Amino acid sequence: MARWLVTGGAGFIGSHLVDALLARGDAVCVLDDLSSGRRSNLAATAELVVGHVADPRAVADAARSCDGIFHLAAVASVERCSKDWLGSHRTNLTGTITIFDQARRAHPKPLPVVYASSAAVYGDSDRLPLSETTAARPLSAYGADKLGGELHARVAWSLYGVPNVGLRFFNVYGPRQDPSSPYSGVIAIFADRIAAGRGIEIFGDGQQSRDFIFVTDVVAHLLAAMAGLRAGARIFNVCSGQGLSILDLAQAVAQAAGCKPTIRHEAARRSDIRASIGDPTAARAAFGLAARTGIAQGLKSTLDFMKAHRLP
Ligand code: NAD
Ligand code: UD1
Repeated sequence: MARWLVTGGAGFIGSHLVDALLARGDAVCVLDDLSSGRRSNLAATAELVVGHVADPRAVADAARSCDGIFHLAAVASVERCSKDWLGSHRTNLTGTITIFDQARRAHPKPLPVVYASSAAVYGDSDRLPLSETTAARPLSAYGADKLGGELHARVAWSLYGVPNVGLRFFNVYGPRQDPSSPYSGVIAIFADRIAAGRGIEIFGDGQQSRDFIFVTDVVAHLLAAMAGLRAGARIFNVCSGQGLSILDLAQAVAQAAGCKPTIRHEAARRSDIRASIGDPTAARAAFGLAARTGIAQGLKSTLDFMKAHRLP
């Protein structure tokens, strides 16, 4: 039976990955500090080690007897990283190096690692869609640390023989994305508020665009990236290839919820990327996968989940 370490496995994307691994009969150990993830996101059969991803001992304990590492633990909010530059750096870059360092120490050979990078590495580019060959010029502390993780991934392979794949997720959404924090993903916040008849805030003019991808499509890419990973340090976009402005997103969520949104505009966030649309061609060629869930279907699943799980 295969056994995997999933860091950040109690979080939004990580818990869906854990479910998929358990469903095919694999064993899973999750390393998570529960800072934004929840124990209740995890199936009872998943083992949980509560610890910090930059703590080598916690990582070594959790990685024992594993066949590979899915590294998703991070401070995922760009805005929160701007507010806590140094603290988020410890998790997002030191944590990632700690994972590679433990992966290289495994016996008899280094463990393969699939890790979450981000579209935030691109920053603002005037050439769209963004492909893996587009220059990476991050605007945020978060994007800079994700790019740093990719550079250390190259070192992990060239110096220590740790085979790895980095996935530059674009904007992921779906059930279990936590709507309760102002640092949550925009779809979770809009869906929660619009469905409850509350107003939403749009930061800036709302013409900034994002490429939204449903969480089960992301999990399919994670599994495909790990399958047969033996050599190299490669990087792929994980995206739909479609852009949506935040204003149009608000309308789409309202339509799916059957409500009219009340919108208030607030100042734009610092470090906010203006246009983010990815090119999925390389991932399609490497994994034979494309994003299958359209935005209307994905929003419906997200709203249905929220309705079913809203506290009375
Ligand atoms: P999330 O906040 O739901 O999950 C992150 C998990 O990591 C949480 O369970 C949290 O408790 C855990 N964690 C945070 N700091 C930790 C630490 N120091 N030690 C151990 N565990 C820690 O976020 P998510 O949306 O599921 O993001 C998962 C990964 O995907 C992250 O690496 C994020 O940067 C990346 N990503 C997410 C998106 C997106 O749109 N959601 C897009 C691009 C990349
Ligand atoms: C998101 C992810 C990040 C990922 C990146 C990849 C989260 C919390 N962030 O960052 O992990 O690496 O995508 O592209 O999952 N907005 C509003 N009103 C709100 C909330 C947000 O107008 O109430 C706007 C923001 O200003 C931004 C857009 O919506 O322009 C998206 O914001 P957000 O969901 O926080 O995501 P990103 O910053 O793109």
